[in-house]
Amino acid sequence: MKRRPLIVGNWKLHNTVGEAIALVEGLKRALGDVAGCEVAVCPPFTALYAVRGALCGTAIALGAQDCHWAERGPFTGEVSPGMLRDVGCRFVIVGHSERRQHFGETDAVVNQKLLAALAAGLNPILCVGERARDREAGRTQEVVAAQLEGGLAGVSAARLPEVVVAYEPVWAIGTGTPARPEDAAAVAVGMRQCLRAGWGESSEAVRLLYGGSVSGANVRGFLGQAVIDGALVGGLSLDPVEFARIVEAARSLET
Ligand code: 13P
Repeated sequence: MKRRPLIVGNWKLHNTVGEAIALVEGLKRALGDVAGCEVAVCPPFTALYAVRGALCGTAIALGAQDCHWAERGPFTGEVSPGMLRDVGCRFVIVGHSERRQHFGETDAVVNQKLLAALAAGLNPILCVGERARDREAGRTQEVVAAQLEGGLAGVSAARLPEVVVAYEPVWAIGTGTPARPEDAAAVAVGMRQCLRAGWGESSEAVRLLYGGSVSGANVRGFLGQAVIDGALVGGLSLDPVEFARIVEAARSLET
């Protein structure tokens, strides 16, 4: 099945409102026509509203980096999926390894967030990936399958295509050492098998991204793998020229 390539920039804990707008302006200059490829940026919460304004008239979609599982209530400091929709988001990242590691998010919590995001009409980007010690123990497929099944519990086959899954090996994030494309593809094949076993035919429409030290120089290796449909980019999404190179690679693959 032909799936539309998707390139997502995860800005993490970077950029004030002014810096965020400057980055979007830089992106607009650096990015040519993005037809044939979907592109999204995920600024911090505080910059979402301003970035939405700056993206107006472009084909770049807006995403958030996290959400809460409840729509409202006594959850000081949290932001609901409906609020993200309200501010113009289409995507929301859930289960990023940094949230699992630093904020103790379990598969059960990630699952609640993902279901709430779907209920609010957002496209969740579910992140999964093994730690170095899992990999060394030969447990990659097992860990990733458990995160997938846990994160997607209760999602119907009809709604599954709205979900994007990002495979981000933890040891490859922010290290400058990406996975080898063929290794990432092998994990992605296992992930597709797992999705197919649980959700059948509709899983074919789910886009699977690779993330972890993606650059303009290495992204083609990942996008050249038939099971990988795009990239989730951290550090280099803060550089408009480099991010534009990554998008261009996805576009050139498409044509
Ligand atoms: P880097 O591209 O900086 O390795 O980050 C990847 C990531 O965590 C994207 O969500």
